[in-house]
Amino acid sequence: MASITIAGLNKRYGIHPVLKGLDLSIENGEFISFLGPSGCGKSTLLFCIAGLEEINEGSIRFDGREISDLGPRERNIALVFQDYALYPHMSVRDNIAFPLRQQKVDAATIEKQVAWAADVLGLEALLDRPPAALSGGQRQRVAVGRAIVRNPSVLLMDEPLSNLDASLRVHMRTEIRRLQKELGITVIFVTHDQEEAMVLSDRIAVMNNGVLQQFAAPMEVYSRPANRFVAGFIGSPQMNFLPGDLCGGPADHVIGVRPHDLKPDTGNSGAFSLRGELMLIEPAGPFQFLDVNVAGHVVRATCMDTSGLSPGAPITVSAGFDALRVFAADSGLRIPHSFKETESRIHAI
Ligand SMILES: Nc1ncnc2c1ncn2[C@@H]1O[C@H](COP(=O)(O)OP(=O)(O)OP(=O)(O)O)[C@@H](O)[C@H]1O
Ligand SMILES: [Mg+2]
Repeated sequence: MASITIAGLNKRYGIHPVLKGLDLSIENGEFISFLGPSGCGKSTLLFCIAGLEEINEGSIRFDGREISDLGPRERNIALVFQDYALYPHMSVRDNIAFPLRQQKVDAATIEKQVAWAADVLGLEALLDRPPAALSGGQRQRVAVGRAIVRNPSVLLMDEPLSNLDASLRVHMRTEIRRLQKELGITVIFVTHDQEEAMVLSDRIAVMNNGVLQQFAAPMEVYSRPANRFVAGFIGSPQMNFLPGDLCGGPADHVIGVRPHDLKPDTGNSGAFSLRGELMLIEPAGPFQFLDVNVAGHVVRATCMDTSGLSPGAPITVSAGFDALRVFAADSGLRIPHSFKETESRIHAI
């Protein structure tokens, strides 16, 4: 276990800045996700922490000790990649033992550590099989076993589940979380899947274009997004954004409301409502999505029962004022706001 403190980290490839002034403090035993769109710098940041990439400016400390000059082997980290290539000619046992053999650890310790890793990961019955005789999820567990067998201080995982099918992904993420709780190890998990980050993490570092946008607990990021980028990236389907204003002046704000909060109007006074034309009804299982054209903006709402609704007809959808988020149109920053005071003055369009 280790705490990780990153301060003023800058990383460039040639003249191109990839990580821009990152500050991040991760506590001992936390499960952290780096989340953001492709190319935002997640893997680069992970590799800087691992010692596989050098940093240009700033510092990285493990338990208060500067490690940015240390090589990967001296940092006591373990890495699991998306493409977790196992050695095909070796058994599961030998694959897991491999990092210890490389370190010339004695045979009795290797046996003990492999037995421990196999027990934690439920791999005991598979130890003599070659990787070719395993399922995708089992291979993934062997890769994790190979990573944890050395008792690393920090486990770094770069999109480790993205090669698995949807149901196995869900199963494996539960396994990874259970394992992390059991070992009490500090984990950094890179993903561009916001649902994966939400369910796994103690805190999520949302990144965009090499800049940290917000670092907070999943529901904090969901409910109180720092800015419009975070609000749009977290939550599926995406938050609706509409030009609006708070004081009856020019529309220099953006009003955000999530589809799940926006429902066909039930005459609920004191709610924020939008009138438009129903364009499309999309079945999504337990509820249905409604696409509504509001003065040229497509707004998505949800609905349990669509009887009585038909495309082409006028519709009013509404949300409670507390479901609204307000962002500055220029900077995109969220403006904390008490809607009770000004609800009569919010005009989304
Ligand atoms: N070795 C390199 N040389 C030059 N540019 C690089 C190098 N590695 C990465 N980059 C650039 O740095 C940026 C960040 O890349 P990085 O791999 O960290 O993104 P990522 O967030 O992990 O994306 P993904 O979700 O696609 O894996 C990208 O614009 C990428 O093109
Ligand atoms: Mg990556």
